[in-house]
Amino acid sequence: MGTLAGGDPAKLDIEELLATRLLVQGNSGSGKSHLLRRLLEQSAKWVQQVIIDPEGDFVTLADKYGHVVIDADRTEAELAGIADRIRRHRVSCVLTLEGLEIEQQMRAAAAFLNGMFDADREFWFPVLVVVDEAQMFAPSMGGDVSEDARRMSLGAMTNLMCRGRKRGLAGVIATQRLAKLAKNVAAEASNFLMGRTFLDIDMARAADLLGMDRRQAEMFRNLKRGNFVALGPALSRRPLPIVIGNVETSARSSSPKLMPLPDAPQDVEDLIFTPDPEEFTRPIVRRAPPAPRPTTDILAELSRAAPAGGEDQPSAATPSRPAAPEISAEEREERLAAVLDEILADPQAAYRTDSVLYQEFLVRARMRRVGGPPMAMGEFRRRVAISRSGVDEETVASEGWATALSLSAQVSDDLQGVFLLLAKAALTREVCPSDQRIAKAYGTHSARRARRLLGYFEEQGLMVVHTDFSGKRIVAFPDLQAETAPGDPNATDEAGGEVPSAAE
Ligand SMILES: Nc1ncnc2c1ncn2[C@@H]1O[C@H](COP(=O)(O)OP(=O)(O)OP(=O)(O)O)[C@@H](O)[C@H]1O
Ligand SMILES: [Mg+2]
Repeated sequence: MGTLAGGDPAKLDIEELLATRLLVQGNSGSGKSHLLRRLLEQSAKWVQQVIIDPEGDFVTLADKYGHVVIDADRTEAELAGIADRIRRHRVSCVLTLEGLEIEQQMRAAAAFLNGMFDADREFWFPVLVVVDEAQMFAPSMGGDVSEDARRMSLGAMTNLMCRGRKRGLAGVIATQRLAKLAKNVAAEASNFLMGRTFLDIDMARAADLLGMDRRQAEMFRNLKRGNFVALGPALSRRPLPIVIGNVETSARSSSPKLMPLPDAPQDVEDLIFTPDPEEFTRPIVRRAPPAPRPTTDILAELSRAAPAGGEDQPSAATPSRPAAPEISAEEREERLAAVLDEILADPQAAYRTDSVLYQEFLVRARMRRVGGPPMAMGEFRRRVAISRSGVDEETVASEGWATALSLSAQVSDDLQGVFLLLAKAALTREVCPSDQRIAKAYGTHSARRARRLLGYFEEQGLMVVHTDFSGKRIVAFPDLQAETAPGDPNATDEAGGEVPSAAE
């Protein structure tokens, strides 16, 4: 693999590796891909190799070592068929997943791995199966991809690492983030090459896997690029620092290098802005999938045309579907208020963003068959603010409240809830809300932010904050001619006795 500290060669026993598998871990740039390349080059003539290559980095092995390059942009059946033939004919290959969306990459890798796994018994010859960026294919947690793709890919990786040995499949997996790699997949490797690792959580996982105590694992933090600690039956019985040697082929992508810029030409603007005649006919290449429509749009549209009966009429043919059964304005208002109450009753609601709450509101309103145009986001926010202020019916009917509402128009949407909370406390002569209570109305756990908000309102001339002789806070509203009763800013036991956040 390279050299030991004294300059002796660092060796890896491939036959042993076939039975005991290898896990390579190290942060980005620590030299994992280089290490895999070294391993592949050195063992190419001894053992069949299959590389699952997310970046298309290893295709350069083809020229020198004869690996077949397989572009993964094929159907799953095709990939499984190719995988089967790869085993029959014992040909080394690189499955390049470059250019596919992550979910497609997972499906393709899974189809290919399963194809190899399912080969007939007579073709169970030993193969090194190298998977770079293994946390992508065997993630420890669900992510942005569909559950189906995740399960498929995780299943294939689990088969490779847990049940592959008997079938001749020897998994060699590399990951940047051990903590992001599914535990059962990592745990099946008995050999480890640990490179630079700086996150505590990855270090702790590494220490657990290697049976080291955590202090000992600190040594992974200071490893240089290309330096790894080797441990396992195919490598060394004790943790052994090694330096990975040179490689014959090069990665297609390498670390960026600084390059002097050319002297700016005189006519630089001309150069950049003069269009190339082809520009207007060339199709625009989309790198990213088209942005998904915001859920709020879809929901708003759905609630505009709620079906009266079943869902079975094709909507294209019947553009104006019958609307939801007519309900009176009062009934509609009542239902909307009920939905709003329901959503805000959740103790966590205070910490969700308004747009999340709004979406939930639209869904529930639709489930209740509240017809008519959907409530606009601005109106929704205003209602949430009013509801959060905890104002009662009597106060709502008062002149003071009307003034408070008109004053609240002077502050931005996200501050209205806090403003109305304080105004209501003043109008009803309640004790001044604590920092914690104010923070919650603002959707944060931070008391410091709450105090900053008060400062801001004061600057705007909306209120005057003062402290009584015992250190209690009073908020007075000149325009309402009202002020709160003195309240302890540090009180923590209101609003359901929530525990203040540790971050404070
Ligand atoms: N032992 C080494 N000797 C010389 N150069 C090395 C060595 N190890 C790594 N490099 C170089 O360092 C750069 C980063 O290495 P590499 O691509 O292997 O990192 P990586 O751990 O795979 O990172 P990532 O997780 O981002 O893929 C590459 O340009 C590689 O050529
Ligand atoms: Mg890499």
